[in-house]
Amino acid sequence: MGKRSRWLLWMVVAVGVVGVVATGSNSGAGEGEGKGKVLEPVVTRIAFGSCANQSAPQVIGTWDDHDYGLNDAGKEFGGKITNQKLLLDFLDEPQDSPRRKQEGVYTSYMFGPVGRQIKVILLDTRYHRDPLRSDGSVLGSSQWTWLEKELNGPKSAITIVGSSVQVISNLSATTRPLFSLESWGRFPKERNRLFKLIADTKREGVFFISGDVHFGEISRYDCATGYPLYDVTASGLTQAVEKAVPHVFSLIVRFVAWLTPTTMRVISKNCRFRSCTYGQPNFGAIEIDWSTTPVTLKLEVRDIVGYPVTGVKFSLVELQSRGSVPSVKAGEHRRHCSLEVNLRWMIKYRLAILFYCSVSALLLAMIGLAYAATLAFRLFLHKCKLD
Ligand SMILES: *[C@@H]1O[C@H](CO)[C@@H](O)[C@H](O)[C@H]1NC(C)=O
Ligand SMILES: *[C@@H]1O[C@H](CO)[C@@H](O)[C@H](O)[C@H]1NC(C)=O
Repeated sequence: MGKRSRWLLWMVVAVGVVGVVATGSNSGAGEGEGKGKVLEPVVTRIAFGSCANQSAPQVIGTWDDHDYGLNDAGKEFGGKITNQKLLLDFLDEPQDSPRRKQEGVYTSYMFGPVGRQIKVILLDTRYHRDPLRSDGSVLGSSQWTWLEKELNGPKSAITIVGSSVQVISNLSATTRPLFSLESWGRFPKERNRLFKLIADTKREGVFFISGDVHFGEISRYDCATGYPLYDVTASGLTQAVEKAVPHVFSLIVRFVAWLTPTTMRVISKNCRFRSCTYGQPNFGAIEIDWSTTPVTLKLEVRDIVGYPVTGVKFSLVELQSRGSVPSVKAGEHRRHCSLEVNLRWMIKYRLAILFYCSVSALLLAMIGLAYAATLAFRLFLHKCKLD
């Protein structure tokens, strides 16, 4: 490790559980070693994904629906008290931890030396969540009070907010009525409250990590606070959409992903697939280079062997507030700013339109074929009779 870099943190998501494993060793510290002085790492690498690996030194995490106990479940789920204990046991949470006494598994951590501190806030988007379609609460009032304190608390260079469901992408707006996905976007009031809280606390260097959807995607929203908000979705190492369908349908999945309109997704020609989503097993990778001025940040989704499939690189000063929150005029369209729901009708529903047109065409073709077959049969009978 010539560059004095090391894996400082290794985040693991257990089928949706976001976690961090701190390797804690200074074996990569380089020149400082042996002189009684340990140099801090110049590059911090954080990986997160979804897999259950208890052999790692330290796992931190929160849950998504399938760890919580029921698909797409919220506060109504009856097993949540039992399952909170089970999750915290799995994560080796100390017996006297306040996390065992509160309702929900939300928590926060601070890593790194002063000046290079990274705060990780893990939300619980299940325990207090009102039903989908209610536009009610995602976090519940106690978690909101806690989050406000956390964001107002001691400064950090970077603040990573882990949410099990996507914060920025609202794909449901463009996949309906065929199917819909869970996300903060389904709770518009609550999502605005989150963005407003980040703006009000004047906390800079905040970005999100998320999972849940069974594919990888990076999205960016420029018009929520005074600086762009990124959301790196990695999902997952154990479950991915292309693994769930027979191999021959992989191409269709990729085509649908490419066809689905999006306003927030980070698109670049370096993505593995045209859609800049990734439906095979993947994990998220965050790399912070403290040695450059200004500090640079690399956010990526990587494939199972560690090659990037989509990514973005920018300097940390980009996550500093420019004072005002940008906006778009009615009818105007701007990438990373206009909401998916405000896309023109024809674009917003193009997936559904194509689907229903294909089904209709198929039906018509079948009716036509049946009709032709009947005609041919009648002709045949007629000919037999004549003979
Ligand atoms: C679990 O993580 C450790 C590194 O922390 C790694 O060496 C090991 O191979 C992983 N095990 C599995 C089953 O992925
Ligand atoms: C997300 O999409 C859903 C479904 O179309 C819609 O009800 C909701 O208002 C959208 N949220 C935002 C923040 O645009």
